[in-house]
Amino acid sequence: MTFTIEPIIPTEKQSGVDFGAIINDLDLETITPEDFDKLFEAVYTYQVIVVRNQGHVTPKTQYELTKRFDPKNIDEYGHGGMHRATESIIARDISPLPIQPQVQLLGNGVVKNHCGVEEKKLTHPSHTVFHKEILTKEQMDAGYTRFYRWHMDAALYRLNPPKVTTLFGIKNPESRREIVRYDDGSNDEIEVQLGTTAFISGQRAFEILPPEMKELAFKTQVKYAAHPYLWISKAKAHSTGLGMVSEGKELSKDELPEINEADIKIYPMLWKNPVTNKIHLQVHPAAVEDLIIDGKPVGDLKKVREILYELQRPSISPENVLAHEWRDGDFVIFHNRGLLHSVVGSLKEDDFRLFHQCNIASADGPLPVTEEDFAPYKIAV
Ligand SMILES: [Fe+2]
Repeated sequence: MTFTIEPIIPTEKQSGVDFGAIINDLDLETITPEDFDKLFEAVYTYQVIVVRNQGHVTPKTQYELTKRFDPKNIDEYGHGGMHRATESIIARDISPLPIQPQVQLLGNGVVKNHCGVEEKKLTHPSHTVFHKEILTKEQMDAGYTRFYRWHMDAALYRLNPPKVTTLFGIKNPESRREIVRYDDGSNDEIEVQLGTTAFISGQRAFEILPPEMKELAFKTQVKYAAHPYLWISKAKAHSTGLGMVSEGKELSKDELPEINEADIKIYPMLWKNPVTNKIHLQVHPAAVEDLIIDGKPVGDLKKVREILYELQRPSISPENVLAHEWRDGDFVIFHNRGLLHSVVGSLKEDDFRLFHQCNIASADGPLPVTEEDFAPYKIAV
């Protein structure tokens, strides 16, 4: 007997959530090769898979399972060692597990005697250290919060983005509801569980664009900054967590470590899903330095960010956001090349949260969308 996949049934308010599925009857410690093949397909079909009741899964199993999704992986954590540079905006949020360094520890509160960690204070990332305009203490006490940062898990320099990420929710804080504010003049907000992880589908992000924006996305390449997370370490983000505000705070070339031109990543804006062949809009907006449209670089960071914001903002509207309601033992596997996700929540010191995360940089770049793939969307002339 194999397992069953239950697609997530979106609430009325999340009418645009056409992805995500839950599995209740699978043990990842003893998964058979046939069930792994089915799981593999499910991840690319549903983008986010939640396997319930996996509290017993070891870091070794998490690492090996993550690797299995990309047999040609280069056996290096998705950020390599780059995220450990103290100034990197990634270093604040994660640290390797001593007994399985490819698996990262994250959460909130003091962890003791855990997988080789004697004692460590974890801090759930807060928008207060990343957004330009932040909520007041009164607003946060009243239960308001923000999306921290919309992103895919990827170094975007030297290393290719991991194909999947596994995010294992071992322990969640006591249940409390929060309201995410967009604060961008739209009055958009969304009610979520404290410490939820928010996902949006890159496929839907593409589908909801008007035809001329689809064409623009198809002819655009995205140039990521060298050492992107150091580059933006002094810059601040939009109140929606979608990309950076342009204030000229990016580090200059001589403030960054040595740059190897060959390590700079330029990817298409549209990536093809290798299982469904569907088209995904896939851009990590905070890390972008330039857009190359029809072979011509835009060359103006403020303009670049305005174009990206216009392309991506519709995809994070409340109706399109899957805010996962974590239960202890949820093992989430997501298609890191087909969606964006964000940490959410304003946790207090005594809110305890313990998670393990793993992703592996890939040997392959993303699959580009060909003229043939794009033909159904082409505007007739
Ligand atoms: Fe992430």
